[in-house]
Amino acid sequence: MEVIREIHELKARQAVWNSPVGLVPTMGYLHEGHMALVRRARQETATVVVTIFVNPTQFGPSEDFERYPRAFGRDLDLLRSAGVDIVFAPPVSEMYPDPFSTWVEVEELGELFEGVSRPGHFRGVATVCNKLFNLVSADRAYFGQKDAQQVAIITKMVCDLNMKPDIVAITTVREPDGLAMSSRNAYLNPQQRAAAAVLFRALNTACQLYRDGCRDVAMVTRAIADIVHEEHLAELDYAAVVDPTSFEELDTLERPALAILAVRIGTTRLIDNMLLKE
Ligand code: PAF
Repeated sequence: MEVIREIHELKARQAVWNSPVGLVPTMGYLHEGHMALVRRARQETATVVVTIFVNPTQFGPSEDFERYPRAFGRDLDLLRSAGVDIVFAPPVSEMYPDPFSTWVEVEELGELFEGVSRPGHFRGVATVCNKLFNLVSADRAYFGQKDAQQVAIITKMVCDLNMKPDIVAITTVREPDGLAMSSRNAYLNPQQRAAAAVLFRALNTACQLYRDGCRDVAMVTRAIADIVHEEHLAELDYAAVVDPTSFEELDTLERPALAILAVRIGTTRLIDNMLLKE
């Protein structure tokens, strides 16, 4: 496994890469959710490139960029044992040379839900993914379905801008109590960690309502909110039932429907989602 820090080096190596090339973009502090993406990329592509880059432009000024967890040595060990070919881990100056002035924005979709709660977040995500797709010249790029709106935005960007990679979304990997794996789970103390299972309980209840024949969107979102409110350490940011591609709020459950929610536990913000109807 080669670890590359600089863009010119990455470009120089590409001539000898076998096709197809699979890209797994990450911000490091890897967990089983990331490793599921890596394993899928390993199965499907001849050269697997994993990027580790804590992207400053997707963090708001009062967000956790500085304290975002980092464990570079452990990440490399995990990636080496998973048979990854290339790790690209550039410094910020390599990705955003000064002055940097070109940005990618996915309108409408990028202005909903996470876009409201985290202004500028998706502009940073779309821009860095655009750069990584260009740099790696990936045939396929792998993302976790936990960040469903991110997947929808990247898919839309690739389609609108005629970009190369196929976007592959991988099922969310969960802890035994259902909490979706996320690097930010590391911020939770033991009480908060126990409380965080409320996201899964709420989504499961929504799915159960749907399976029991409920087609009333307001009833489903109210059930999610009620369950979150029962957990005194949790504060609901939003709960909604949306179209999985456009993230428009639905008023009927007769078409594909995704239940989404964002919850704050202490200073940690967690998101999750579950398909009610495929
Ligand atoms: O999902 C993430 O970890 C990040 O948003 C990504 C896709 C690596 C872009 O920085």
